[in-house]
Amino acid sequence: MKIDVISIFPAYLDALKLSLVGKAQESGLLDVNVRDLRDWTTDRHRTVDDTPTGGGAGMVMKPDVWGNALDDVLQRESTLVIPTPSGEVFTQALAARLAQRPHLVFACGRYEGIDARVAQHYRAAGIATVEASIGDYVLNGGEVAALVMIEAVARLIPGMVGNPESLVEESHGEAGLLEYPVYTKPVSWRGIEIPAPLLSGHHANIARWRRDRALEKTAAIRPDMLAALRDRGGLSQTDEAVVRAADEVLRAGGVPATEGEGGADFS
Ligand SMILES: C[S@@+](CC[C@H](N)C(=O)[O-])C[C@H]1O[C@@H](n2cnc3c(N)ncnc32)[C@H](O)[C@@H]1O
Repeated sequence: MKIDVISIFPAYLDALKLSLVGKAQESGLLDVNVRDLRDWTTDRHRTVDDTPTGGGAGMVMKPDVWGNALDDVLQRESTLVIPTPSGEVFTQALAARLAQRPHLVFACGRYEGIDARVAQHYRAAGIATVEASIGDYVLNGGEVAALVMIEAVARLIPGMVGNPESLVEESHGEAGLLEYPVYTKPVSWRGIEIPAPLLSGHHANIARWRRDRALEKTAAIRPDMLAALRDRGGLSQTDEAVVRAADEVLRAGGVPATEGEGGADFS
């Protein structure tokens, strides 16, 4: 897969040289290019923004500069991704869709964002265009959002993650549940023991224990995900019994199973 990122702060994207995404570039799985939007300006001051038409606070990124850049970088099969807090929410499902595409181009906005005609123009020109938000909060620029999306997309590209099975049970993965709690050695740490079923060596019991914890966690934190899984016919009778028990504990003001024994609360 090829990825281009256009930004007025290319150094922000240096993190793409690290970790899995960095290694994927070395091995040829990913071809990432970070570009400076100012290279497509035409004036002495390398201006990328102007005042908002109709008045109001802040500055808006100029469509002509973005047009110069995108005309150069986009190809017919490219997908243009414009990070914006007013876009569709970026989810694992959207990450999976983007992971199928051969070329992603991220247009990182700053100030009050990019002139709305840029997305309108490229959509009308037949370029697949996604305006995506990484959550209900506002950042100063699209660079961090692009990093988030690139990392989520890249780990879904075949060959990126050493053991692809780890993607299945992962939170927001195919299982449709939040992941169960995970542990490693030592067995006892600061008086907290690893739950006994995980030490039993009995694979079926371990799998059932993990699914139960995943169901309880999802019921407590993301009942919307559980409802969606139920609608897809993804809950067995045993699962339903676990969920009912978890709901009862939650309604009584408790915390299901292994999830903490009280203590400081952030709410
Ligand atoms: C200060 S924000 C602009 C916010 C815009 N005026 C609004 O209210 O929708 C500047 C840039 O940061 C990026 N950005 C901010 N929050 C974001 C989010 N939640 N998801 C994706 N991108 C975001 C976008 O690239 C945006 O153009």
